[in-house]
Amino acid sequence: MRTDKSLLSFTIYAALAALFLLLRISIVNSQMDSCSLDVSSFLPAPFNDSSSLSCRSVWHTFDLRYSKSQGNVLTIVLSAEYTSGWVGMGFSKDGMMVGSSAMVGWMGKERAHIRQYYLRGQSPSDVVVNQGQLLGTNVPEVVVLNGAKIYLAFQVKFEAPITRQPLLFAFGASRPSHFRLTEHEDKTSILFDFAAGSSSASSYPVQLKRSHGILAIFGWGVLLPVGAIFARYFRQWDPLWYYLHLAIQFLGFLIVLSSLVAGVSLYDKIHANVLAHRGLGIFVFVLLILQVVAFFLRPDKDSKVRRYWNWYHTWVGRLALFLAAVNIVIGIRVGGAGNGWKAGYGFSLAVILITVIVLEVMLWIRGSKKPADPPAFQMHPPPPAFQMHPPPQ
Ligand SMILES: *[C@@H]1O[C@H](CO)[C@@H](O)[C@H](O)[C@H]1NC(C)=O
Repeated sequence: MRTDKSLLSFTIYAALAALFLLLRISIVNSQMDSCSLDVSSFLPAPFNDSSSLSCRSVWHTFDLRYSKSQGNVLTIVLSAEYTSGWVGMGFSKDGMMVGSSAMVGWMGKERAHIRQYYLRGQSPSDVVVNQGQLLGTNVPEVVVLNGAKIYLAFQVKFEAPITRQPLLFAFGASRPSHFRLTEHEDKTSILFDFAAGSSSASSYPVQLKRSHGILAIFGWGVLLPVGAIFARYFRQWDPLWYYLHLAIQFLGFLIVLSSLVAGVSLYDKIHANVLAHRGLGIFVFVLLILQVVAFFLRPDKDSKVRRYWNWYHTWVGRLALFLAAVNIVIGIRVGGAGNGWKAGYGFSLAVILITVIVLEVMLWIRGSKKPADPPAFQMHPPPPAFQMHPPPQ
């Protein structure tokens, strides 16, 4: 029991260290800013009034300049790095793509275009030009290429004073033909507070989101499955399997805890509309805490209830790993993570699944070769020998 106690205090210290590290990452992150460029020299009135425009970095290279004027009119200048394809900004009711309206701009072969689209559905054919529900003003929209950046400038009129508004940002890689947009390369959904003053500039927490994803994939997708593999397939290395299982699962727990901290502070910043991902993430973390608690409360090896504890510990662990894998896939989807993430997680998942299949088959072969031995994976105490072999006459 003494080792349990020192393990517990080690866990707490390590968790605090992880938390501290994450806080540092998020502070460093909020200091980066790319709003300094003056747009008044290359944009026409009324978009040239730099002094009235607030600016915030919202996502990747996307900067949002805006000002509110009488009659609930919002003046927007969206800028983003641009080589080809299209750049868009959507106004959503609930943070989701379907049902929202968007302004999309691109450099055509002869001239630049900016158009409003209605996002009726998710497929390119459901993104219809000139049918959005945004009300314009009599100021014409403008799209300009300046240096490496494209600028979309437009005004939108709202029926009520505008404060917090779910916004979508996206870009596509290929130039629209006949005003038909290709699917986006990447997109995001944020809740933007237009009521906050210009002083509260904050950038989109790209690094925080990345940390959340990397930590979750490393903890849930790599460490915890590997620790479980030691517990199931390497019982013959007694007691090494036990210490490996313990050490890896505790490290995994810490990494998952850090990923949860990152996820929570990410949610505080962007209020992403990801109910299923959040709910499932919290649920699997509760399962993980139950596993830690169960470890400290485990009954003695020779105790009668130990077999029920073993059964519980094994199945809660499997359930947690399975649901966590589902949630990683959901997270990659809702986070709009690129192909690198999909390939990375797909690869690690494939390696783990193949390892498990191979080890399971080896276990099965070993078990069927030597039926007299208790199989190595046996979690319950083996049945007493006299049940299997009738006692000698
Ligand atoms: C914006 O452009 C208008 C018309 O070209 C000009 O009269 C005005 O002085 C400009 N404002 C600023 C702040 O540059």
